[in-house]
Amino acid sequence: MIKVENVTKYYEGRPVLDNISLEVEEGTNLGLIGPGGCGKTLLVKIICGLVKPDRGRVFIEGKNINELGERELAALRFRIGMLFQNYALFDFMNVQDNIAFPLRQEGVLSEQEIEVRVKDMLASIGLPGIGHQYGRELSGGMKKRVSFARAVIRQPPIVFYDDPTAGLDPVTSSKIFLLLKDIRDSLGTTSVTITHDIEGVKDICDNFMMLERGKMIFFGSRKEIEATDVKLVRQFWDGFSDDELNV
Ligand SMILES: Nc1ncnc2c1ncn2[C@@H]1O[C@H](COP(=O)(O)OP(=O)(O)O)[C@@H](O)[C@H]1O
Ligand SMILES: [Mg+2]
Repeated sequence: MIKVENVTKYYEGRPVLDNISLEVEEGTNLGLIGPGGCGKTLLVKIICGLVKPDRGRVFIEGKNINELGERELAALRFRIGMLFQNYALFDFMNVQDNIAFPLRQEGVLSEQEIEVRVKDMLASIGLPGIGHQYGRELSGGMKKRVSFARAVIRQPPIVFYDDPTAGLDPVTSSKIFLLLKDIRDSLGTTSVTITHDIEGVKDICDNFMMLERGKMIFFGSRKEIEATDVKLVRQFWDGFSDDELNV
């Protein structure tokens, strides 16, 4: 379980996250939405201990992450998969080795087992047979999918996805979202998914949270978000109608 308690973060005297509290139950996926610059990526960085909050606490699996020693923090990081917006692939490794990298670091599976797991993963992201290619030979969308594969290949119990379908076409996006749902359903993964693709996440998240300029303006289930009358939430969730676009 992930628990965030009263997290506040300032940059240049301005609160970019303002007293945020939330919980992500084990085995559930939280959809994190909101306009660009509202604090989504920063919140996820704070949750996984990459950035320290100025106030507030973060608990992962019952442990206050800012009180962990280096060793414990390293052990915890190992249980977390992250797909960041600009998650670069290693240029000097081919796709196969890029995806296999976290498994080799972990050192549990044999080379043969790794090969099978990577092959299966390439098939499920719709890129079978590209293992021998290098990052520079791939399109942006392909790189994104390979980064996704690398983030989840170890089947970590906790995963953070930062805009996993940015720049992908609608067909590929829905494949990624389905895969994300499969991962949660089959492995019981606890995850936070940042996205701009509201239609894509409607069916794959258990709860939704919306930020606006560092403030939480909504947290709740799909049923609750469909019933809320907070204006910005409505606009995000429903999309803008033709009328509104024509004014
Ligand atoms: N390292 C930093 N230094 C200064 N300002 C930052 C830093 N990281 C994020 N911010 C600011 O915090 C706000 C939230 O950023 P971010 O979490 O990246 O937004 P988004 O919701 O688009 O992911 C923005 O106003 C951004 O400019
Ligand atoms: Mg962001």
